[in-house]
Amino acid sequence: MKILLLSALVVLALSGPAIVRDPSAPLFTQEDIDLINQSQDSWTASLDWVGSMTAEDVKKYATTQIRPREFPEFHWGAVLENLQVPASFDSRNQWPSCVHPILNQGDCGSCWAFGATEALSDRLCIGSKGSINVVLSPQYLVDCDHTSQGCSGGYPDLAWSFMKTNGVPTYSCVGYTAANGNCPKTCDNGSSLQFYKAASVSTYSGPSSIQAAILAGGPVETAFSVYEDFMTYSGGVYKHTSGGYVGGHAVKIIGWGNQSGTNYWICANSWGTSWGIQGFFWIAFGQCGIDSQAVAGSPLV
Ligand SMILES: *[C@@H]1O[C@H](CO)[C@@H](O)[C@H](O)[C@H]1NC(C)=O
Ligand SMILES: *[C@@H]1O[C@H](CO)[C@@H](O)[C@H](O)[C@H]1NC(C)=O
Ligand SMILES: *[C@@H]1O[C@H](CO)[C@@H](O)[C@H](O)[C@H]1NC(C)=O
Repeated sequence: MKILLLSALVVLALSGPAIVRDPSAPLFTQEDIDLINQSQDSWTASLDWVGSMTAEDVKKYATTQIRPREFPEFHWGAVLENLQVPASFDSRNQWPSCVHPILNQGDCGSCWAFGATEALSDRLCIGSKGSINVVLSPQYLVDCDHTSQGCSGGYPDLAWSFMKTNGVPTYSCVGYTAANGNCPKTCDNGSSLQFYKAASVSTYSGPSSIQAAILAGGPVETAFSVYEDFMTYSGGVYKHTSGGYVGGHAVKIIGWGNQSGTNYWICANSWGTSWGIQGFFWIAFGQCGIDSQAVAGSPLV
């Protein structure tokens, strides 16, 4: 024991003044924010949302498992070659009543369920020309889709597979608790469950394939790598600037645009409206794997 302790001290002494982060200390200070802001002019950082969260606190916000997909990538073939992709596109302008409000996953690693149910909610409305206009229940996936791990994280493509096989009820039927629970047999008020389903599941990678998927059917779910600086995002086109890897995160892509020659995706996050641009964010094409594994399906209408 003494020998071990001694050698640990020697290692410390030899490696010089290591910067050891106190795990209970806030992850960001105003100086860190200023440094991010001064080091680039693509996006703006702020302490507003992240406040005094610690490194441990932010881990709960990025729990999607990024791993090879089980579903074949969709091949557009000649469709893609002939597709006229507009320089900018926003589903909120194209389908104003079908892109549903920003939600808040709270203190539960359920982003994978939010990205899935949010994109299918929008697609059901778009595909039914507004006649099915519902917000689907992320809680139902958290409680019932056992191919994922509820509040401890999950897999976007398997969530879509679950929505195809089993379907999901509405948010107003099974409300959000931000905690794991037993799979409900009825709505919260005791009425019987009514299921909404995906008719297919496809994955898309690369900007043109994802753009084609959004133009054809509406928002898609995607997963990407979150680094610490992303927590401080408050506007502009995000590009990873500083901070370590936190984990995988799933969100909904609703469109794209360009700023000073940089193409970016418009995404809806599920961290409430006080994060980012009222809950949305812009991220440069190709950053953090944002456009390498999107998933969506046609709605069963
Ligand atoms: C970040 O930097 C931008 C541009 O340098 C500045 O306008 C903004 O006020 C800064 N924001 C914060 C929160 O420091
Ligand atoms: C129970 O909840 C469902 C789903 O939101 C709703 O359609 C139904 O009207 C509610 N029933 C009662 C009796 O409140
Ligand atoms: C950026 O978008 C605008 C329209 O929003 C378009 O006129 C312009 O050509 C685009 N620029 C690039 C580099 O794509």
